Amino acid sequence: MLLAIETSCDDTCAAVLDGGRIVSNVISSQAAAHAGFGGVVPEVAARHHLELAAPVVEAALGEAGVTLDDVDAIAATAGPGLIGALLVGVSTAKAIAAARRLPLIPVDHLQGHVAANFLEPEPLEPPFLCLVASGGHTLLAAVRDHKGHEILGQTLDDAAGEAFDKSARLLGLGYPGGPLVQKEAEGGDPEAFEMPVAMQRDPGLDFSFSGLKTAVLYRCRELGPEGVQERRADLAASFQKAVVDQLVAKLKRALKKGGWEAVALGGGVAANGPLRAAVAELCERQGVRLKLVPISLCTDNAAMIGSAARWADPVAYPHYLGYDAFATGERMAA
Ligand code: KG4
Ligand code: ZN
Repeated sequence: MLLAIETSCDDTCAAVLDGGRIVSNVISSQAAAHAGFGGVVPEVAARHHLELAAPVVEAALGEAGVTLDDVDAIAATAGPGLIGALLVGVSTAKAIAAARRLPLIPVDHLQGHVAANFLEPEPLEPPFLCLVASGGHTLLAAVRDHKGHEILGQTLDDAAGEAFDKSARLLGLGYPGGPLVQKEAEGGDPEAFEMPVAMQRDPGLDFSFSGLKTAVLYRCRELGPEGVQERRADLAASFQKAVVDQLVAKLKRALKKGGWEAVALGGGVAANGPLRAAVAELCERQGVRLKLVPISLCTDNAAMIGSAARWADPVAYPHYLGYDAFATGERMAA
């Protein structure tokens, strides 16, 4: 059995895996603690992880009906993410592993989102093209084996989830923005406002979302607070359509370039209903297989970290004692 811990942002997560099978998957969301700030406050997140890490690990073991005696290795997200938040998860994992002389498996968070697709039932076997869209990242990944992925294109500025969160704030919808914008958009007209779909003429596979956020800001200024309230559903629907259109356009371009036979989605934005529907339609038209993991495995969770850990390099005791989390950039070497 493998115990996995994920604390890269504002969810404290622990999971127990038996191979590719999820035995338990516990997520303690801190969203309420950050809602008043309109976004995640790194220091607040780290402090909450500190309080929640041990109880969440205990809950994961309890729900799985196992004890640490049954665990052979501990996996933890090493980065990228909020450094204070990551440090809590990595330190917790190191402490549990060291006390029992178990190996530690550091995992890349983005590979975790990719690896959610390797979980049972019906694991997707590489090669496939994976669109990862979350609060911190938006990228197209070429997944040729279980161990890693090659980035074919990524956002040049804001992530898609960040655009959802910032626009939700402008529309007075709260945090996290994605699900709230999606709900609001249900009653709106996606054609009501013209929003820029960036990078249309760019021949590459990169994304850009900061202009879209600015467009929402300008529409809100023009409408004024009462106007925004009146047209909120239309604004949300028009914004959401522009995000989905850009993601789908780049996915389509990558499919054309690469001759891929299967597509997968990952990251919190992959929970978005209209995005899932648009990608399903694209894949059907192109005759490409589509794997959609359940929404609970799109947003941050530890099961996906445990899944990635199955193909990551374990570090034996005591070599991981000096091991650090990383916020961005270079993936750490053991
Ligand atoms: O993968 P994730 O849980 O955390 C990061 O690694 O960032 O993604 C969180 C992001 C947030 O920006 C959130 O607003 C967005 O995913 N999100 C959604 C939906 N559910 C979560 N965006 C659009 N539609 C949704 N239903
Ligand atoms: Zn994530």
